[in-house]
Amino acid sequence: MLKGQKALVTGANSGIGKATAIALGRAGADVVVNYVAGREDAEKVAEEITSFGGRAAVYEADVSDEDQVVAMLDRMIQDFGTIDILVANAGLQRDAPFTEMTLAQWQKVLDVNLTGQFLCAREATKEFLRRGVVPEVSSAAGKIVCMSSVHQLIPWAGHANYATSKGGLQMMMETLAQELAPQKIRVNAVAPGAIKTPINRSAWETPEARADLLRLIPYRRIGDPEDIANAVVGLSSDLMDYVVGTTLYVDGGMTLFPGFATGG
Ligand code: BGC
Repeated sequence: MLKGQKALVTGANSGIGKATAIALGRAGADVVVNYVAGREDAEKVAEEITSFGGRAAVYEADVSDEDQVVAMLDRMIQDFGTIDILVANAGLQRDAPFTEMTLAQWQKVLDVNLTGQFLCAREATKEFLRRGVVPEVSSAAGKIVCMSSVHQLIPWAGHANYATSKGGLQMMMETLAQELAPQKIRVNAVAPGAIKTPINRSAWETPEARADLLRLIPYRRIGDPEDIANAVVGLSSDLMDYVVGTTLYVDGGMTLFPGFATGG
């Protein structure tokens, strides 16, 4: 489905990024596996992609550092020739009750989750515009998939920095989509709900936490990273060529106000 396309996935050494890199590779793309810490894990992801015939490389870069992002895209263009798909996935949480939230916690989350996506999208877009559409490869000049969250919509007490970063990301994604669509660049987002990854281990690790969490999910299943990876592959492919500026919620119904299933 993505044969001949070159994809960059940020934060691809674990969780959703890892599953996404592997799924893109399985769909035929060559993949750059970005990480900021955890080189061995990133290398395992790359090995898995090469094991089924794809090409993969591992690049270290902090997405919130402008020079490192510029260097990463330069290197990708040198090594792979171009970029067709950016999955701006790297993200983190630094949770705290509001009055205890430090400026450092606030800033770190905004820097990685929001500024990091801005920098990666900007650098990828420069290459999409330089190259333009190559019809044998894809109907679009480039595809950007922003990894958002149900918390671009659902306010989240104790996570003001994280929810704000995702709320901002929605407007950035939609603005870029509007600005870049005439140049045949498709920008979209995937908004995961509760997915079993290291970022939210405490929410699914114990039976009590799991039961609490499942009450928030009408489909009564905690998501797997592959649920998100499949959505990213779909949005990146020409099957979804007319999908522009959309957020695809992949959340088992978490955004359907499950508290109102009874009562109201
Ligand atoms: C957060 C997780 C959380 C999920 C649902 C995600 O964006 O990173 O920690 O479990 O949203 O609330």
